[in-house]
Amino acid sequence: MKEFESEIRELNKKNLLRKFTCIESSLGSKILINGQTFVNFSSNDYLNLSSHPEILKTAITALKKYGLGSGASRLLSGTFKPHVKLEKRIAKYKRTQAALVFNTGYAANTGIIPVIAGADTVVFSDELNHASIVDGLRLSKAKVEIYKHKDVDHLGHLLKSSSKIKTVGRRLIITDTVFSMDGDIAPLPDILFLCRKYNALLMIDDAHGTGVLGKTGRGGLEHFGIENTDSIIQMGTLGKAAGCFGAFIAGSADLIDLLISRARSFVYSTSLPPAIAEACTKAIDIVESGSGGRRKKLWRNRKRLYEGLQSLGYDTLNSETPIIPVLTGDVKRALNISEHLYRNKIFVPAIRPPTVPDGKCRIRFSVTSAQKREDIDRVLQVLKKL
Ligand SMILES: Cc1ncc(COP(=O)(O)O)c(C=O)c1O
Repeated sequence: MKEFESEIRELNKKNLLRKFTCIESSLGSKILINGQTFVNFSSNDYLNLSSHPEILKTAITALKKYGLGSGASRLLSGTFKPHVKLEKRIAKYKRTQAALVFNTGYAANTGIIPVIAGADTVVFSDELNHASIVDGLRLSKAKVEIYKHKDVDHLGHLLKSSSKIKTVGRRLIITDTVFSMDGDIAPLPDILFLCRKYNALLMIDDAHGTGVLGKTGRGGLEHFGIENTDSIIQMGTLGKAAGCFGAFIAGSADLIDLLISRARSFVYSTSLPPAIAEACTKAIDIVESGSGGRRKKLWRNRKRLYEGLQSLGYDTLNSETPIIPVLTGDVKRALNISEHLYRNKIFVPAIRPPTVPDGKCRIRFSVTSAQKREDIDRVLQVLKKL
């Protein structure tokens, strides 16, 4: 179609035209692409739960009982017993009064932010927060202050200036706990200190922390030993470490009541299939009490790959988690490394703008508990020859 030709050509010229890769198998340490086996370093299925037999069995039983689609949005006839059960389970897991399930993390962030950030709100947002937070802020009427990545001095300075403005009704700090493209962790205790000092609310996006951080996988708060979680708004996803699909907001009962009435992505969207909700509940049971071994393996794998990449002299930024970027700078080099790995049957995507800023292209390794020692060693061997 002629209409979009010039835009496509422009993207292509800049090496920014994206294409997807089609996977022909389930996830795991190996995946099938074009009938060939690849070592997989690209998925957020951190604990390899996406094909866990007990979770699959739970989903199949629920599928037979409830059918496939939910048929309506939650406030019409789209609330099934598994949704209610899942929300109770999440609240228990995250130690909050209540929780609400959204269809995706993107929907959770774009749904909640306009509700809690009105015209008299100032939101302080880390410059590397996920795109769904950025879009949630675009949908809200709040004033937005972007603070430098993880820079609590800068955040403190912005809060101090804002505290002098009497017309501000609410101050809200939003941060990823684990930054999705850098793999570093937000300094939550320092941020919480500033929240208390300036009477600000805190919302954390624990998409990559849930299931990964903390002894029982409870996420960023458990990692730092932070209790008192009702005043902190926690977003998490069920499509990453939980191996399923969906997302949630956990917090006070009042917050959840407000979201049920006002979060547009919740109110105006067909609800998650009940069988998925049932599978998610089972996945949380496993994440919390049956995946200690998997989590240990995940962190062992992460250490092996991280140390190997470091010893080869690659710039892994400040990664502290199973997300390990290898900074390449320009687009071409990111594509070249990703293609070199691909030719060697290793699947690791190149990350380009607008996902990362110009000049900060990278390839992004995602470590999981499924990978074997020899998979990691093969990656290092292939990169050594580059
Ligand atoms: C930090 C962060 N927040 C939110 C999301 C969105 O979650 P979902 O994929 O469930 O839409 C993602 C990733 O996709 C993410 O990395």
